[in-house]
Amino acid sequence: MLDAPQLKLRHTAARREVCFLLDGEIVRVENCPPTMTVLEYLREVAHRTGTKEGCAEGDCGACTVVIGERAPNGSGVNYRAVNSCIRFLPTIDGQELVTVESLSGPDGTLHPVQQAMVDHHGSQCGFCTPGFVMSLFALYLRDATPSRDRVVEALSGNLCRCTGYRPIIEAGVQMGSYPQPRRWSRASAATADSRTLLEAIHRTESLHLPGFYAPLTIDEVARALETDPSSVVLAGGTDIGLWVTKQLRDLPPMVYIGSVSELKTIRHEPDGLRVGAAVPLAEAWEALVRLYPRLGEMAQRFGSPPVRNSGTLCGNIANGSPIGDSIPVLIALAAQVELRCGAATRYLPLERLYLGYQRKALASAEFIVSVRIPLPSAGLWFSAYKVSKRFDQDISAIAAAFAVRIECGQVAEIRLAFGGMAEVAARAPAAERALLGGPWNEAAIDAAAARLADDFTPMTDMRASSAYRLRVAGNLLRRCYLEYSEPREPARVADVVAAEGRE
Ligand SMILES: Cc1cc2nc3c(=O)[nH]c(=O)nc-3n(C[C@H](O)[C@H](O)[C@H](O)COP(=O)(O)OP(=O)(O)OC[C@H]3O[C@@H](n4cnc5c(N)ncnc54)[C@H](O)[C@@H]3O)c2cc1C
Ligand code: FES
Ligand code: FES
Repeated sequence: MLDAPQLKLRHTAARREVCFLLDGEIVRVENCPPTMTVLEYLREVAHRTGTKEGCAEGDCGACTVVIGERAPNGSGVNYRAVNSCIRFLPTIDGQELVTVESLSGPDGTLHPVQQAMVDHHGSQCGFCTPGFVMSLFALYLRDATPSRDRVVEALSGNLCRCTGYRPIIEAGVQMGSYPQPRRWSRASAATADSRTLLEAIHRTESLHLPGFYAPLTIDEVARALETDPSSVVLAGGTDIGLWVTKQLRDLPPMVYIGSVSELKTIRHEPDGLRVGAAVPLAEAWEALVRLYPRLGEMAQRFGSPPVRNSGTLCGNIANGSPIGDSIPVLIALAAQVELRCGAATRYLPLERLYLGYQRKALASAEFIVSVRIPLPSAGLWFSAYKVSKRFDQDISAIAAAFAVRIECGQVAEIRLAFGGMAEVAARAPAAERALLGGPWNEAAIDAAAARLADDFTPMTDMRASSAYRLRVAGNLLRRCYLEYSEPREPARVADVVAAEGRE
């Protein structure tokens, strides 16, 4: 079906070829280079050039496609928008790939999302348009008549330099007013055929390509890393993808954990939430926000929907960036990581994982199996903040998370964690000491804010100066105190956006 000059495609099963669904047909790719991106495949092998390359780093959304995966409960297919520019093709093995070319009907009738874009003048030069269409399409499958807020949120990973967004948002709001197509109306209705075909290509053995191994069990992951400790663990690839597309690095052999079903689960255990290493950020944040509603804004501002659909929470922890957003949150919540090396498992408080810039307390061949987050305990106040130059889809200049318990007006428990203030995300021991056991009032907060200079000597970089970082860190502590003193419902981010009149 596809013209593939470089790669030989055929329609027979084998475990050394990448196999996925496209437009109702099974595509098999032999000799797939381990780091070939889905975008590269689409444009250069399949010659489906509707999907565009803008930034090649997950920022602009021009390359957005939708990936369908068998729902774990056996009913239907889960469809999610992802950035094809940083997604390696072998990672979509066993899944369905939907591109902008897949949407129109057999007679060329446009999908409601496309027709709405036409009717509302949502496209000018057109370069960004396929990406917007696919983000809206992913939303349409879940909610064909979304609110404006939901549309804005779904599009937060797509950039347009021409239209000014209003017509595109309007198209999203109106897309449900068009007649439903026979295919691609709702995820459940659209996927009876897909589900059958996905069953047919479901892998029951590991995928093994040169430089890419996708085992199915944790034991196999552990064995692979023990056998070759130079291998790199690949989860969502939202960091690793850029090593290839931006840094042009040759990667060591990859052990991909996205096919290990044990690692794809979130479990509610008596003492906390256990988030497996292959759980996408979108699901992990959703579960965290249910426990700690004040995390809503942080969750919504972490990357974009396509980034959160591919990237994992444990990948964020393992990457260990000093400005990784989840790390201060999880440190303040006293999370622990479950680590595995060979047959041995151990647990470590997350704050002890980081030894210095890009240095972690991980032995050779050791990897993260899960992160365990304690349940909210009575009287614990928790809040988290992200400060970045851009509201959506930006890396933090500073992230902060505070957990505090006040008993009889005294601070009985406190954990203050910051990102962007040092070479690793870390707690603020001097500021904590200034508060612990004392009164919880403005004077005490000011005194603690002053002690942050003992805890941190932040760097100056393009995101913020050292002085700004220190000042903002203290102000975030003051904000936490004010919010504690006058609790309100956590503001919905979309409300703030609407109030500011931004689009
Ligand atoms: C456009 C864009 C926006 C982003 N926005 C944000 C943001 O707002 N906030 C933020 O904090 N980050 C952001 N990121 C960074 C990235 O999305 C996160 O760090 C993400 O959580 C990484 O997870 P992953 O599964 O994609 O990791 P991968 O890229 O697969 O891996 C990252 C690193 O972790 C290691 N690793 C992964 N899983 C394990 C494991 N189980 N055990 C041991 N090592 C492991 C890998 O070997 C690699 O070194 C953004 C990235 C992009 C491209
Ligand atoms: S090309 Fe910009 S996000 Fe992929
Ligand atoms: S229409 Fe030109 S970049 Fe969006």
